[in-house]
Amino acid sequence: MARSKISIIGAGAVGATVAQTLAIRQTGDIYIFDIVDGLAEGKALDILEGAPHWGYDLNIKGFCTADESKYAEMKGSDVIVVTAGLARKPGMSRDDLLLKNIGIMKSVGEAIKKYSPESKIVVVTNPADIMAYAIYKASGISPDKIIGLGGSLDSTRFRTFLAMELNVSFEDVNAFVIGGHGDDMVPFIRYSNVSGIPIEDLLPKEKIDEIVKRTRFGGGEIVNLYKTGSAFYAPGISIAVMVESIVNDRKRVIPCAAYITGEHAKNYLIENLFIGVPIKIGKNGVEHIYDIKFRDDELEAWKKTVESVKKNSAIADDYFAKNQ
Ligand code: APR
Repeated sequence: MARSKISIIGAGAVGATVAQTLAIRQTGDIYIFDIVDGLAEGKALDILEGAPHWGYDLNIKGFCTADESKYAEMKGSDVIVVTAGLARKPGMSRDDLLLKNIGIMKSVGEAIKKYSPESKIVVVTNPADIMAYAIYKASGISPDKIIGLGGSLDSTRFRTFLAMELNVSFEDVNAFVIGGHGDDMVPFIRYSNVSGIPIEDLLPKEKIDEIVKRTRFGGGEIVNLYKTGSAFYAPGISIAVMVESIVNDRKRVIPCAAYITGEHAKNYLIENLFIGVPIKIGKNGVEHIYDIKFRDDELEAWKKTVESVKKNSAIADDYFAKNQ
């Protein structure tokens, strides 16, 4: 059977961590791309040189996209992971990065359209829901093949903090975070449990509120500790899980940024834009969107996150209108 092919655009901290994670798990051949000369080539070779120990017999190659024709090498990818962009610095909100990263998405999206329009795309560059929209606008490919990181990472942070508080296995905590991948994300308490036991039965409200707050600022907490650069280990794994669900058609249900349209638009109060909702991820990309029946208090939080996604998506619309 032919091996899967995964292309990773951006050989920085997140891109390289995804590449190494996928190599160790032997998920498929890995092609890495970066605009900086030597960086993708170096990361690919460095990861490959570990192969004899752990026996990952894969093609792992790097390409410099200062020469844009090098993007031709991503042709036939099952999945393209987009991490190219600028990372957050201390004191900088995710939204500050918006315009710069939209410009990068335009060039990457155009390359995808030209060389590998059949691929599924996992968009990681922040803010990921808006960047997924920008890739959609720039590439014109079917939006059900585009998935933004967000909930996958926010949820693993929420689960981690809950497991630490309850002193239980990380794996037994089910919890998810929906909405935009920004400071007004919505950790969804009612659907969060430990092996089926609702967290509201296990923790007092004040403690849950504290954990929710820590989750909302989970990315910022890491930025403040690192001082230069942002999180990449948990993001790397959160992305690898999405990639593996596509290439192995696992049909994992994970909250991620997906394109909301049709009947779902009525439920989620947002239309023809990307926002974090629970989805089924398989070989076709987004295979199902699950609607949530919101209670009144939950709806308030949801409306807030919808507003900020709409606002930032409008900035992307404006950018594309001016930069055809
Ligand atoms: N084409 C290709 N690569 C690019 C381009 C471009 N136009 N612009 C920037 N890059 C590359 C940079 O050269 C760099 O190597 O993207 C890489 C980004 O890597 P880092 O700066 O290390 O950032 P990282 O921590 O990996 O985060 C990448 O993921 O989680 C998000 O917020 C994070 O948006 C950020 C992205």
